[in-house]
Amino acid sequence: MEIQGKVALVTGAGSGIGRATALRLAREGASVVVADIDEAGGRETMREIEKAGGRAAFVRADVTEEKDVQAMIAFAQETFGGLDILHNNAGILTDQPRFPDAEPERWSRVLEINLRGVILGTQYGIQSMRQHGGGVIVQTASLAGIIGFATDPVYAATKGGVVLFTASLAPLKDAANIRVNCVCPGIVDTPMLHRGQEAGLEEEPRLAAMLRDLPLIPPEEVADAVVELIRDDSLAGRAMLIPNGLPRSLAPQPPVPLPGR
Ligand SMILES: NC(=O)c1ccc[n+]([C@@H]2O[C@H](COP(=O)([O-])OP(=O)(O)OC[C@H]3O[C@@H](n4cnc5c(N)ncnc54)[C@H](O)[C@@H]3O)[C@@H](O)[C@H]2O)c1
Repeated sequence: MEIQGKVALVTGAGSGIGRATALRLAREGASVVVADIDEAGGRETMREIEKAGGRAAFVRADVTEEKDVQAMIAFAQETFGGLDILHNNAGILTDQPRFPDAEPERWSRVLEINLRGVILGTQYGIQSMRQHGGGVIVQTASLAGIIGFATDPVYAATKGGVVLFTASLAPLKDAANIRVNCVCPGIVDTPMLHRGQEAGLEEEPRLAAMLRDLPLIPPEEVADAVVELIRDDSLAGRAMLIPNGLPRSLAPQPPVPLPGR
């Protein structure tokens, strides 16, 4: 899909990867709805887009609240006339203590934001896009959802869920002209990482070694991958792997025949 002149909505756009994607989509000529639970961060992203000459509007939305998700999509329609591109990006790591020592209410919040939030956004995004002849949805999953993440198993479970949720929606391409794909970054240089480091992420030796030996991924590289998934009209249900220190590539298709692929 050509991005110029389209309407894009990015969740978690007040920081890190979401901010980089929002800025990039605006630079490519989209009108961007910046959605975040953090009003200050979201408004700052909106100002940065406007300062660079782009079009943006901020809406406060908690992706776990169904009414907020409905309202943010209605806001895109009312403000810019529709919704062509949806980037379901908001996500969190589990705070310390993590599974298995975390209270269930603590890790439940990770499921709510990272998995239920993506599913809710996708559901209402599809409903809106269907009315306008189609669109593109890109989820932010993680390499943790492909290879696991010993430091935060619940986080890995949510991201693995997003990868397979996305794969399951591949048939929407032919059924409704809606392509759903996801990005799976390794370790990205964002405030989430720095908060994680303060909370002892590096206690896990494999992760400590990765952080020591491999370059961090700039959030702008994830934005590049999101743009590639939006532009390539052949891709649906796919996961774009973005490993530290290696070029990005599409995850191989599963070695079994699947309908709709
Ligand atoms: N940083 C990494 O190493 C890394 C790696 C792979 C995947 N990811 C994923 O990338 C996405 C963005 O992470 P980031 O690193 O930019 O983190 P970040 O903390 O810098 O940004 C996340 C944003 O999401 C917002 N947010 C949190 N809960 C929300 C909610 N309930 N509703 C709406 N917005 C909410 C936050 O306010 C924040 O602005 C997440 O899904 C994360 O899991 C990050």
